Amino acid sequence: MFIINQVTIEDVLELQRLGKQTFIETFSAYNSKEDMEQYLAASFNLEILKKEIENSNSTFYFAEDGQKKVGYLKINLGPAQSDIKDSDSLEIERIYVLKTYFGKKVGQLLYEKALTIAKELKLTYLWLGVWEKNERALQFYKKNGFVEFDQHQFVLGEDVQNDILMKLTL
Ligand SMILES: CC(C)(COP(=O)(O)OP(=O)(O)OC[C@H]1O[C@@H](n2cnc3c(N)ncnc32)[C@H](O)[C@@H]1OP(=O)(O)O)[C@@H](O)C(=O)NCCC(=O)NCCS
Repeated sequence: MFIINQVTIEDVLELQRLGKQTFIETFSAYNSKEDMEQYLAASFNLEILKKEIENSNSTFYFAEDGQKKVGYLKINLGPAQSDIKDSDSLEIERIYVLKTYFGKKVGQLLYEKALTIAKELKLTYLWLGVWEKNERALQFYKKNGFVEFDQHQFVLGEDVQNDILMKLTL
């Protein structure tokens, strides 16, 4: 039985640890060590994470199995969104689950949290960007009704990659 809890500033170290571990598990097989290190140092820096937690337009949630944090979600509203900054949309910036917990619907639970928030706020749509080679995630979002509407570039270290932008209209 997994539960969802909002991440607070006291959780920043745990968020950093889980963020780095899940990012490494997901992408290290596809990218150079240098690019990974550069990205991890820039994006999972404690000061940056603290600012993101404190941003009133961004929220992080942990999925927990007892005491253990097994996945997390980051959502952005309004100006905190990384690309489209519509006031009637919600961006799912990250859903990351520990590899040993894949396939147990933890990702689904985190996604449904984002969906519930978007509905409560009476928003028009949810959107997100996924790396074009991330088959598992693409399939996961398609299964939940998301459709491709655009593409944009994502820089990992020195490597410029292509993200598929997907949306779900409510
Ligand atoms: C994508 C992710 C969030 C899904 O979480 P999860 O807890 O495994 O999800 P669920 O158990 O609810 O669903 C698994 C779904 O993944 C997809 N999937 C699983 N294995 C797959 C495979 N080998 N190939 C393609 N799709 C696959 C299917 O859609 C599957 O749904 P189904 O079981 O109904 O067929 C998780 O795999 C993850 O954290 N991946 C690494 C991080 C990432 O890529 N995040 C997305 C980018 S922001």
